[in-house]
Amino acid sequence: MLAVPLAVFAFAYGSAVVTGLTLQKRAVDFFDPAQGGGSIFDNATFGGEPLNVIISWQSSPDVLTDDGILNFARAIGFSQECLGLHLGDPQTANLGDGNGSVNQTVEFRQDFGNDFLGTCLESLVGGNHFRVFRQNGPQANSGALFLAVSKEQPASQNHDIVPDGYNIGRDELVAGAVGTKSFGGVTYNVVAKNITGLMPAGSDGVNHGIAVDGIVTLLTVTIQ
Ligand SMILES: *[C@@H]1O[C@H](CO)[C@@H](O)[C@H](O)[C@H]1NC(C)=O
Ligand SMILES: *[C@@H]1O[C@H](CO)[C@@H](O)[C@H](O)[C@H]1NC(C)=O
Ligand SMILES: *[C@@H]1O[C@H](CO)[C@@H](O)[C@H](O)[C@H]1NC(C)=O
Ligand SMILES: *[C@@H]1O[C@H](CO)[C@@H](O)[C@H](O)[C@H]1NC(C)=O
Repeated sequence: MLAVPLAVFAFAYGSAVVTGLTLQKRAVDFFDPAQGGGSIFDNATFGGEPLNVIISWQSSPDVLTDDGILNFARAIGFSQECLGLHLGDPQTANLGDGNGSVNQTVEFRQDFGNDFLGTCLESLVGGNHFRVFRQNGPQANSGALFLAVSKEQPASQNHDIVPDGYNIGRDELVAGAVGTKSFGGVTYNVVAKNITGLMPAGSDGVNHGIAVDGIVTLLTVTIQ
């Protein structure tokens, strides 16, 4: 979809180029979910988890595909859940793109250096993990990926989030991603930028009442 309504433009982030009443494709990083009736929090069991990392539409297109995000996740120390076992309930999010509430696309866990069994270790000992939601509905088809990142307790403690686990999870994921990373013959250059004003700070409505600092980190991932 090449044409995006001008109304959406005012709420888009990034350096957009307006040509008449249309936006040049790939000109923005993402669209603010709230402006399309969505939210920067997903829907979890005890409130919402913050969508605290966004992978920009201005990333290389291959990064934003299902296979692309899997390879990128591996490059930054994550892989798919332990032997395909799913230990938490899937969550839903409304990214304001006209699709309404949709299920997470995929979930990754920290793999502790072994992308086959490492995620099983994360399931047992706790660690970082993230869920991915794709903004690709007809009203805001950016293709950007919204990540709900959190650091968890071990399974023995029911996989609850550690205190401050949303901010810590985000910062650890970002620290492990910026710069140059490689996996499967693909080399990525990753740049991070913090955004405020998109997510309210505090614990209101947040899953388990864990406060967030209101920062969303935007990652632009370029394949070299
Ligand atoms: C989903 O989360 C949003 C934002 O936190 C909230 O407004 C909405 O009520 C939630 N929906 C459900 C069904 O829990
Ligand atoms: C979303 O996930 C739930 C729980 O796994 C499942 O029952 C439902 O069919 C899914 N919805 C879609 C549209 O895939
Ligand atoms: C959103 O809707 C489009 C159709 O407009 C569909 O192709 C896409 O798969 C949907 N996205 C999700 C995450 O379900
Ligand atoms: C983003 O904010 C976090 C939390 O304050 C900080 O640790 C991090 O260095 C910031 N990152 C950038 C790229 O500014």
